[in-house]
Amino acid sequence: MDTTDALHTTTSSPLTALVTGATSGIGREVTLQLADAGWRVIAVGRDQQALEQLGAASERISPRAADLLEDDLAGLVPEQLDALVHAAGISGGDGVEHTGSEEWSRMLTLNVTAGAQLARHALPALRRTRGTIVFLNSGAGTAARPRNAVYAASKHALRALANGLRVEEESNGVRVSSVYPGPTDTPMFTGDVDRSELIRPASVAAAVLTAITASPDVQLTDIHVRPRRELSW
Ligand SMILES: NC(=O)c1ccc[n+]([C@@H]2O[C@H](COP(=O)([O-])OP(=O)(O)OC[C@H]3O[C@@H](n4cnc5c(N)ncnc54)[C@H](OP(=O)(O)O)[C@@H]3O)[C@@H](O)[C@H]2O)c1
Repeated sequence: MDTTDALHTTTSSPLTALVTGATSGIGREVTLQLADAGWRVIAVGRDQQALEQLGAASERISPRAADLLEDDLAGLVPEQLDALVHAAGISGGDGVEHTGSEEWSRMLTLNVTAGAQLARHALPALRRTRGTIVFLNSGAGTAARPRNAVYAASKHALRALANGLRVEEESNGVRVSSVYPGPTDTPMFTGDVDRSELIRPASVAAAVLTAITASPDVQLTDIHVRPRRELSW
């Protein structure tokens, strides 16, 4: 079954996705893989050079410069939308003892609130297409590690957002997935490990596409992507 059948699209226009965090790492791979699969992708990020590279990579990619902490989120959402992928995120922090309210606010706003607001603005379009929302979560969404409480709190909140939104939207036809990558070879991951042991961002992106293109009778609620040989992250 191709993705068009699977999504029960209501129009003959190309399937359209909005991807945040498109300028780097996992979001960039999601953007490229969706474009390869024939989707039109609105690719959101701040890095102007990375946005230009995406635009040059495929005519199906429409780069959109936006700071999700500052800019109007409603204006990013198109009329026609089949999938929303919130991959933008920040990590870091230095334990609760050393984290002030400004850093808490930045982490929660980008990792959680921006995703929730984009989802809110996208719901009318996604209801029309019986579309899918994918939130990039983390192993930190189910367990907190030392000095990682702030990031873990944001990802626990993101998991709750996904679970709550899924039940709110099930009668409206919108499905909601969380993808939980383990340590992945992107600029975000700075742990002291042999990087060849990390998950490739393309592999996480493939899991995101699996959620988006899942058979229409199901939703893949939680996808955990772990390295073939487990690492202590
Ligand atoms: N890498 C890992 O090991 C790992 C593990 C588990 C979960 N994750 C999660 O996977 C997702 C993607 O992470 P990644 O590893 O691909 O990270 P990454 O390579 O650092 O990319 C982060 C993305 O977030 C965007 N971003 C950051 N601040 C932004 C802002 N204020 N406004 C708009 N966009 C902003 C960045 O774009 P600009 O710089 O262009 O703004 C960039 O595209 C995140 O949610 C992360 O928490 C990553």
